[in-house]
Amino acid sequence: MTPAKSGMRRGLTAYGDEAFSLFLRTAFIKAMGYSDDALERPIVGITNTYSGFNACHRTVPELIDAVQRGVMLAGGLPVEFPTITLHESFAQPTSMFLRNLMAIDAEEMIRAQPVDAVVLIGGCDKTVPALLMGAASANVPAIMLVTGPMLTGDHEGERLGACTDCRRFWARFRAGEIDQAQIEAVNAKLAPTAGTCMVMGTASTMACVTEALGMMLPGGACIPAVMSERLRNAEATGARAVAIARERLTPDRIMTAEAFENALTMLLAIGGSTNAIVHLAAMAGRLGIGIDLDAFDRMGRETPVLVDLKPTGQHYMEDLEKAGGVITILRELRPLLKTGALTITGKALGESIDAAPPGWKQDVVRPFASPIFKEGGIAVLRGNLAPGGAIVKQSAATPGLLQHEGRAVVFDSLEDLAARIDSLELDVAADDILVLRNAGPKGAPGMPEAGYLPIPKKLAQRGVKDMVRISDARMSGTAFGSIVLHVTPEAAVGGPLALVKSGDRIRLDVAKRALELLVPAAELDARRSAWKPPGARAGDERGYRRLFLETVQQADRGCDFEFLSRPVIARVPRR
Ligand code: FES
Repeated sequence: MTPAKSGMRRGLTAYGDEAFSLFLRTAFIKAMGYSDDALERPIVGITNTYSGFNACHRTVPELIDAVQRGVMLAGGLPVEFPTITLHESFAQPTSMFLRNLMAIDAEEMIRAQPVDAVVLIGGCDKTVPALLMGAASANVPAIMLVTGPMLTGDHEGERLGACTDCRRFWARFRAGEIDQAQIEAVNAKLAPTAGTCMVMGTASTMACVTEALGMMLPGGACIPAVMSERLRNAEATGARAVAIARERLTPDRIMTAEAFENALTMLLAIGGSTNAIVHLAAMAGRLGIGIDLDAFDRMGRETPVLVDLKPTGQHYMEDLEKAGGVITILRELRPLLKTGALTITGKALGESIDAAPPGWKQDVVRPFASPIFKEGGIAVLRGNLAPGGAIVKQSAATPGLLQHEGRAVVFDSLEDLAARIDSLELDVAADDILVLRNAGPKGAPGMPEAGYLPIPKKLAQRGVKDMVRISDARMSGTAFGSIVLHVTPEAAVGGPLALVKSGDRIRLDVAKRALELLVPAAELDARRSAWKPPGARAGDERGYRRLFLETVQQADRGCDFEFLSRPVIARVPRR
């Protein structure tokens, strides 16, 4: 039986006369050619995140067709609608600046339109968290479908993938190891099919984490974008959307504290992108759940990296799919999981693990007892340089640099970095520590992926491959190196990073989780008194940029806007 406030009767336009509102709405929707029978079905909205600028979403039109088929086979009426879409390389100044705008768009359109459930089609890095943030706040039954990863390319017999190999080859080009013709040849092979980056970057991480969170059908995270199985997954997602509409299975019942613990466990075990901790904090924040970074670090000490994928390991997403995908990882992690957490299937996570066919011999997901890295991929640092915390992807760092003391070489901004990093005059040595500031949420603004500071050209040409780098920026999940990120509070709001001078000494000790600026407290106090905020002030700006500068929170709150997060009523993980 159709509930009273479902379908076309949901969320009527405000004319002060509900019957007239419905009369008008049905008049206009009939212009789309629907019958009365169709309009009485559960209505499933489908977010159309296609754009000619978003190659990661190239297959969205065929996914929408498959979702529509699934919805109709299950007795619902599918209606697609557009939302903002974001691609990493087509969002200036950075896609992170626009993630919250996409989340607002998704939330308000889900709420404003008469949908009984919604299929969220995401893929590229920011789209999955943005859609889930919006859906969590709208709290209409929602299910995630990702576009899926690209297949790998090859160059002169070597397997290539975006974008770990983009960075590796660019570093070789900067060092003079390959010439212009070779880098152009590689450029044509790095993204050979539709889909998202096929290493364990942010897109793959968010897909795996979302499956562990329970907001995606089991098996949905890793199927490559161009495989026929991806379309069957889309069809099944459409069918399940009709069921969650009937069951009124809303996101707040799935995105619980237990579910976020499972997502965090997955993040650690896959050696996932550091960006995911920011996105998970933002998603959880929509439900009043805070991420306790110190507890997350404790969780990391007992959660090994099991997945042997670039940039931490050697394989690619299509190999993880052939190894069974996320369920293979969940099976190994079972003792650490909250198996009672409800998922979009209507069943608990543990039931999904039990229902999956047995695993087989493979070398992509290691057994729990013989991991690729004995701790989780991400460690949380504290110290006088990062009182609000900083993170390091230890599984993708040079082991010898995880305990390191060196002289700071400071860059004041992205512009300063671009102007001086390759200068022959730059006073820098291989054991120095590169520091970039004013690249955080408010500073850049938008916390760009600038934390992967390039090795100064004169050092790169001498064969230096890695250095300790520290910033209040983020880093692409596809990058690697001994890189400290998300230093909180950021320099632009007066965090200690703003006080560092070139020549100061800094000590990084990942084993002790310490990041210290070795300058006496009295000297730091004097520098703090003399500090003046750099760059643009919110009052000088207009529009979305002003809203962003006025309300964006720090990385530990997911860089969400203050007025979109809910007050924290629970913290995870609870360890
Ligand atoms: Fe879209 Fe990498 S650029 S997933």
